[in-house]
Amino acid sequence: MTAEHPGHSTTPDAASDEPPILDHGYDGIKEYDNPMPAWWTWAFWLCVLFAAPYFVYYHMGIGSSMHADYEGEMGAFFEQQSALLGDLQPDAATLVSLLDDERAIKGGANIFKTNCAVCHGQGGVGQTGPNLTDDVYLNIKSIEDIAAIVQDGLVAKGMPAWGQKLNRTQVVIVSAYVAGLRGTHGDGGKGPQGTPIEPWPTDPIATDGTPVATITGP
Ligand code: HEC
Repeated sequence: MTAEHPGHSTTPDAASDEPPILDHGYDGIKEYDNPMPAWWTWAFWLCVLFAAPYFVYYHMGIGSSMHADYEGEMGAFFEQQSALLGDLQPDAATLVSLLDDERAIKGGANIFKTNCAVCHGQGGVGQTGPNLTDDVYLNIKSIEDIAAIVQDGLVAKGMPAWGQKLNRTQVVIVSAYVAGLRGTHGDGGKGPQGTPIEPWPTDPIATDGTPVATITGP
């Protein structure tokens, strides 16, 4: 065997530094026997091994998908944004004016998903708690009753009080989200419970674009 070390410049045969040539060929094309470095081969097989449980966990199992992560992060973002709406009052005027405020509704949806969906179902279609997407209610006569119930609960009937856990802005935006679910009739929900009530008041917008403070029912 001739010298293998590139440093040996005295070696007369320069070709001896080249890797051996494999003894097969195609159309006269020859191939060096030049294996991938060991670190590369290790990294490759580690990736293959990592991929199998990753696939099972995230694509078939319980791991949250990228889509769900994105939704969650956006929800948290909108919830944060709603804090910029200021100190919201749990009254009818505020709730009605928030019905078409994207920050409030998406932030409210996020709070709902985290705290309420376990009993009221995803999207409020009802589970142990009543369906909030129909047009009938058990305890609600006017829109501000929603915020009062969320704040104080109906503890004896299994609806917790959220006033301790959520701050007032959070109570108001989740209530606005719940008010907005009315009449959306989500799929696969629980049957109607309660009695029909008057529609929510409409949002009288003053000519300068700000919602007026008092709202009279329809
Ligand atoms: C532990 C289960 C549970 C959780 C969690 C829960 N609720 Fe309820 N909720 C109920 C039950 C049960 C009722 C029905 C009470 C009754 O029979 O009058 C109810 C009633 C309501 C009502 C009144 C519905 C009506 O028809 O009168 C609203 C509004 C409401 N919940 C909103 C929420 C919101 C918003 C959240 C999250 C912040 C939430 N709930 C979390 C169980 C729950």
